[in-house]
Amino acid sequence: MRVVCLYSDGLRVADVEPPVPRDGEVLVRVHAAALTHDELKWPADRLPAVPSYELSGVVVETGEEVFALTPFDRDGVAADYAAVPSAVLAPKPASLTHVEAAALPMGGLSAWQALFVHGRLQRGERVLVTGPSGGVGHLAVQLARYAGAELVEDGAADLVFDTVGGELPVGERVVTIAAEAPGAVYFVVEPDREQLVELARLADADELVPAIDSTFPLEQAREAFDRVAARGKRGKVVLDVAGG
Ligand SMILES: NC(=O)c1ccc[n+]([C@@H]2O[C@H](COP(=O)([O-])OP(=O)(O)OC[C@H]3O[C@@H](n4cnc5c(N)ncnc54)[C@H](OP(=O)(O)O)[C@@H]3O)[C@@H](O)[C@H]2O)c1
Repeated sequence: MRVVCLYSDGLRVADVEPPVPRDGEVLVRVHAAALTHDELKWPADRLPAVPSYELSGVVVETGEEVFALTPFDRDGVAADYAAVPSAVLAPKPASLTHVEAAALPMGGLSAWQALFVHGRLQRGERVLVTGPSGGVGHLAVQLARYAGAELVEDGAADLVFDTVGGELPVGERVVTIAAEAPGAVYFVVEPDREQLVELARLADADELVPAIDSTFPLEQAREAFDRVAARGKRGKVVLDVAGG
């Protein structure tokens, strides 16, 4: 099978045997795998490493369509097949394509956990999201609106959700996923099946629409990551692994 691999001297597509699932894992035929800004820096201490930690695909043994955020401390899913812990898999939103479904877990779960877990967002509160058109930000804006919050661009916010880093806007509560900062709660998103099920429900109800900035075939992973690093994106960059 084809696999995207990050080596110390760069990113290449290799040809390897499909992985053999261990206890608690299933083999997933990956249809689409989405990419995240800066993620190539994350596995620096365990190269070579497979990038991309969110997928939509089909469980080989059962035929079930699934999507997931996968753990960051092991190989990702930019490959034709991936062995994935079954605990992180949720049924794919039926109304979304695989490309659209793959664009949801990282941004959707980061936004959910920032707004509702760490940010304790309440109906009617004023929310400021930095990077509101990015992979995480565009979903945070939709989730905040769905929760009955008021989106603001400046001024006093009850909750700031920062996805950019640097100097942070002022807010009663400030949550960031970009970088640790004084006075802000920084967290790393965690895979969560129940939250994914809720995100899928919202997607199928048309309350949450993942935006696809661009798609690339697996062989063009290098170009896809160049796009991830560019400014002016609208939503997620996705590897269309299975071609549609
Ligand atoms: N801690 C965690 O668990 C976690 C989880 C997911 C992501 N992250 C991190 O969170 C950040 C956002 O992720 P993402 O996937 O939403 O990224 P993204 O898709 O690239 O979105 C970031 C947005 O911020 C805006 N931006 C404003 N100033 C920027 C600047 N100086 N440099 C880059 N972008 C700037 C960009 O919009 P314009 O170019 O249109 O201005 C961009 O759309 C990344 O650093 C990512 O690594 C962390």
